[in-house]
Amino acid sequence: MGTELHDITFRFLSPHESPLVVDAIREAYGDSYDVAWCYDAEEIGARLGCGQMVSCGAFDSHGALLAHAALTRAHHDDHVVHAGQAVTLPAARGEHLFTRVKHHLADWAHGRGVLGIYSEATAAHPYSQRANLDLGAKETGFLLAWIPASVHNDAARSAPVRDSVALFYLATNQPHDHPVYVPERHREIVRTIVDSCHLRGRVADAAPGPVAGPTRTNTTIDPDHNSAIIGIRRPGHDLGDVVISTRDRLFARGLDVVYADLPLRSPATAHVGDALADAGFGFAGVFPSAHDEGEVMRLQSLNGIVVHAADVSVASDHGRALLDYVLADLAVTSRTCDTSRSTVAAR
Ligand SMILES: CC(C)(COP(=O)(O)OP(=O)(O)OC[C@H]1O[C@@H](n2cnc3c(N)ncnc32)[C@H](O)[C@@H]1OP(=O)(O)O)[C@@H](O)C(=O)NCCC(=O)NCCS
Repeated sequence: MGTELHDITFRFLSPHESPLVVDAIREAYGDSYDVAWCYDAEEIGARLGCGQMVSCGAFDSHGALLAHAALTRAHHDDHVVHAGQAVTLPAARGEHLFTRVKHHLADWAHGRGVLGIYSEATAAHPYSQRANLDLGAKETGFLLAWIPASVHNDAARSAPVRDSVALFYLATNQPHDHPVYVPERHREIVRTIVDSCHLRGRVADAAPGPVAGPTRTNTTIDPDHNSAIIGIRRPGHDLGDVVISTRDRLFARGLDVVYADLPLRSPATAHVGDALADAGFGFAGVFPSAHDEGEVMRLQSLNGIVVHAADVSVASDHGRALLDYVLADLAVTSRTCDTSRSTVAAR
């Protein structure tokens, strides 16, 4: 590396520096990054200006950007924030610049009372997972086939497959205590994740009783990812039927992956949530909701995509055990449902 480490400064980016973010993304991904607004300097500048995005960079003694990462949030009072857009320029890699940039972002989050930072770290290579572990973050799940096959990442092999990501959570402030209601099938793994990852709740028993009323959902299609998320606003007695028909419609339109998010603050989730396993959805992970105190459990159904265990990089023993659980659950649940043709191969 041309620049000595002591010459490096870390600072937050101003809105007028937004073209630096575009250049960094282009350096690592060419035109293939799966978030379209990251190529739009005006849009990034607007997000930086209103505080929806907070970018931190490492700069050399000539003022050139060496590494970048950003936090994004929908509202200023979000309980948790999302980290992404991590790039270290090739000549500066392996010097812990990404780890240090993210450390500055974590300090920022801590100072503002934000409870934690969640992120999706690519499993195409282990480097960003290692940086997250260095910071004290832990894996809370794996989203299989999350990244479109068209994305080319210059730090990873270039096989044209949909890559997976590890979900990470880094607690930055003391969480509030609240009950977490989990379907029986995934109770132990969620308890392990909530406890070991310093998520905010505590697994609790839901009072017995029938679940009345219909399921309410809000489905978001992400065209850049060719995937969709079925957000379950209210789990009802017809949860399995609603999710199956929504997923099948989305698969018929050619979507590659459908995720379903269950609210763990709702006692009904404990009663009817296992219907998603019968519907062919495997466990993906847990992450905190940005909007309320609760957590969300994400499940996944893949449309004919083969995931090879050996293609999913993992950087810790906890992550390996979690990935094994995720892959095993998808293998079992996808067999229970004809329309879900997801496959796991243990190569
Ligand atoms: C991922 C990326 C941001 C890491 O940046 P970085 O500044 O090199 O990361 P760090 O130096 O903080 O490295 C974190 C860990 O990975 C290791 N590492 C990083 N690059 C490495 C490489 N090419 N070979 C071997 N190890 C490497 C570091 O040694 C460190 O491990 P350690 O703590 O055990 O020493 C960078 O490789 C990159 O920009 N990749 C392309 C875009 C990308 O994949 N972004 C992340 C998407 S989630």
